Amino acid sequence: MLYYLSIKGKQKLKGSVCISGAKNSALPLLAATLLSKNKITLSNIPNVVDVKTLLKLLENLGAKTELNGSVVSVDTTPVKSACANYDIVRKMRASILTLGPLLARFGHCEVSMPGGCAIGQRPIDLHLKALEQMGATIELKQGYVVAKAPDGLKGTTIIFDKVTVTGSENILMAAALAHGVTKLVNVAKEPEVVQLCEVLRDAGVKIEGIGTSKITIVGSYGELLDIKDTKVIPDRIEAGTYLCAGAITNSKITITDVIHSHLESIILKLEQMGFGFETGENSVTLLPASKIEASDIETSEYPGFPTDMQAQFMALCTQASGTSIIDERLFENRFMHVSELARMGANIKLKGHSATVEGDMELRAADVMATDLRASSALILAALVAEGTTKVHRIYHLDRGYENLEGKFSALGADIQRLEE
Ligand code: EPZ
Repeated sequence: MLYYLSIKGKQKLKGSVCISGAKNSALPLLAATLLSKNKITLSNIPNVVDVKTLLKLLENLGAKTELNGSVVSVDTTPVKSACANYDIVRKMRASILTLGPLLARFGHCEVSMPGGCAIGQRPIDLHLKALEQMGATIELKQGYVVAKAPDGLKGTTIIFDKVTVTGSENILMAAALAHGVTKLVNVAKEPEVVQLCEVLRDAGVKIEGIGTSKITIVGSYGELLDIKDTKVIPDRIEAGTYLCAGAITNSKITITDVIHSHLESIILKLEQMGFGFETGENSVTLLPASKIEASDIETSEYPGFPTDMQAQFMALCTQASGTSIIDERLFENRFMHVSELARMGANIKLKGHSATVEGDMELRAADVMATDLRASSALILAALVAEGTTKVHRIYHLDRGYENLEGKFSALGADIQRLEE
């Protein structure tokens, strides 16, 4: 059944919204259950499609999983098969996170090459090169990565040519079971990577440099780990998306269950644009701006400005006074939302990886189409301020990464409904 979101414009928001667990932390932690000798319970799991897809893949491999609300238990002791089939992997590229753990545990595995996606080609060459440096042989056969390391993976020194989040996570998990010490250089520092490192450390893995770009891991020589039950960290991108919803409607809203330090670059940018903030123990309140100022943005790896927030800020910049320049430095095609925003009256010029966004634009409701997870949320933000009622189609993209989106927006006072196409 296909649905669309119907959103009435010219809305003010108010109140508070509770942020769910981070999809991009839940996914590597679920993959890490393949390293565990015991059953694990993960809490604060977001109820999103990508999590359900990875659980299906784990079950397909033989694992026993039980999901109750935001708590999931996973027992991978029955896992025998080491082949992650195309049918599931094609639905979610993050399935590639099973490659490192499966290879480290079984000495061989077949994982379907993830397709590209709307935002870019999304290669995995850095994942594969690192595993080869750890002694694996890698072949590509009929769209599958066929990896072998019959004597186990060997600790070594690996320098990532580029900072890669899932590449770092794959190799961290592989190194945890490797024979000997692995030194990783140019590792991603995203909070989701840090949480994975902390879970490995708490499982008894000797790991140094957590949170930095240089990490040393003493492998367990193939011994499965005693991974502890874990609460998934809050989703900083969901949190940033709701802050942008408050900002674009120039409303006072509060987001709760957040880790303030994970939001620094987003809050700093909103402060530069004229918004105020009050922070509580685990909450952040956005205060309206007397005037929304234009601001230039360049996406970069954490702790820089997140690429996953670029589309949402682009929608906000259409309401700022003045022109904003947005540079997308991580992905080659992450401007799919531009043409949809233009259909609502935005004036955005693209030149290579740079977008020039005119401010003070009166947006008008339209039928628009989601193309990738974060672009879709930008269309919702634009719809909140547009004249008339906007329909956002293909919202299956949203359901991949945002839990109960229309419920949360309604709780903030938005007039938003999920209707059948
Ligand atoms: C992770 O994707 C996130 N996904 C993405 O979030 C996020 O946009 C991205 O990191 C950047 O922050 C998950 O964590 C599940 P990368 P990932 O490897 O790991 C190039 C969302 O909306 N690269 O850090 O796939 C790559 O092409 C998603 O939740 C190589 O060249 O991103 C890109 O230009 C969208 N070779 C850059 O590195 C490789 O082997 C960063 O990619 C790997 C990556």
